[in-house]
Amino acid sequence: MIEWLSNLDLPFIGTLKHHGVDIVASTITAILITLAVYLGTKIWKLISWIRQYFKRIDKVSKEIERKNNNGLLSEGDGIWVAEPINHLNNYQPNMNGSKILSVANLKGGVGKTTISANIASCLSELLNEGNNEADKKPVLLIDLDFQGTLAGMAKTNKRIWPPKKFHSSHATKLISGDLTAHHLVDLHFPAKERELVEIIPAYYELAQAENRLMIEWLLGDRKKDLRYNLAEILHDPLVQNKYSLIIIDCPPRLTTAAMQALCASTHLLIPTILDPASSNAVASFVNQIENLRDSNICPHIQHIGVVGSMLLQTQNYEAIKQELKDLLNLSRDAGGAGGATSLIEDAFIPRYTAIANAYSKGIIYPIRDDDGDIANNINTAFEDLSRKIISRMGLQLG
Ligand SMILES: Nc1ncnc2c1ncn2[C@@H]1O[C@H](COP(=O)(O)OP(=O)(O)OP(=O)(O)O)[C@@H](O)[C@H]1O
Ligand SMILES: [Mg+2]
Repeated sequence: MIEWLSNLDLPFIGTLKHHGVDIVASTITAILITLAVYLGTKIWKLISWIRQYFKRIDKVSKEIERKNNNGLLSEGDGIWVAEPINHLNNYQPNMNGSKILSVANLKGGVGKTTISANIASCLSELLNEGNNEADKKPVLLIDLDFQGTLAGMAKTNKRIWPPKKFHSSHATKLISGDLTAHHLVDLHFPAKERELVEIIPAYYELAQAENRLMIEWLLGDRKKDLRYNLAEILHDPLVQNKYSLIIIDCPPRLTTAAMQALCASTHLLIPTILDPASSNAVASFVNQIENLRDSNICPHIQHIGVVGSMLLQTQNYEAIKQELKDLLNLSRDAGGAGGATSLIEDAFIPRYTAIANAYSKGIIYPIRDDDGDIANNINTAFEDLSRKIISRMGLQLG
């Protein structure tokens, strides 16, 4: 080798050889060659990285690209279905034993949070009725709306909500995959005066975290499939054993967190106000859910139904109910829900100022210190809906 190096026809080698210092010349040549190989590898890596980077950008651009329909540019299927499903570590959603209910509608202000919190309280009582203290299992209530309305309403412990400066909310940790199943079952954030309802609160930084996670995922910087972060944690046997039920209050948008909720959930409840605009919103939402199911993104989710919310006692809703039912049965191509879900007929939530005024006082169900008609009606409404959920989800009563 030394012989070979010293035979190379490099000018300074000749000078060194001339001075009889062959070994020094060979060593310098060896160092130069090593350096050249090292730099070559680095440059090759840089070129590969740049090529990879532009390939990813190209892929992401294609995924969000609009489609040309006879000269009309229309939005594509959306990023959530564009990426193929990638279950790393052979993770497959374990839907059989799971009991996870998403309460969702892309229309805002229809009572999702109010219903989530109050059915959580009602179900925590019904599912534990007759159980010994030691056998009682809480209901886990997860807030996935960055507005944090649920956490504000249920009045969880002030020390965790709002989160301290520079700290993330637990909802953010959960959807980022920064909270393991072990961590989750160690948390204990009961709602005010509702020991059997435990809360995972959200806060405004969740919105930024959702954008970050989505972009990281699209650029291929995250090894795991972002859509199944929540599913992987919530389907863990530790989590399934600790809670009698998990309820997720979804935001009125198809955000990163909402996608994770749908991919983790076994069941879906859609609250709606009964008016024509809201009926169309329900049909369009169900259509999007069915597209996700068809794309195999959340094929396991089952519809519990559409529940009327904020119904005035004095108003007759028969005509609008019929319109909604027709729209739910109309084919998806014609803008309907294709019969994928139905209106829950014998349970609805009435509109009472007592419900609106209770915000920030804690979860109202059950109203115990008032035997008036209003309190009875509110309690009965949440109980009727909860019993429907128990039978449609096949939950075991305590
Ligand atoms: N049954 C009801 N009777 C009277 N007011 C109600 C009732 N349900 C909800 N509200 C009030 O309506 C408003 C919206 O309710 P809520 O926050 O539950 O809706 P949401 O669908 O979760 O809203 P968002 O889409 O913003 O998350 C709140 O002020 C709430 O107090
Ligand atoms: Mg809400």
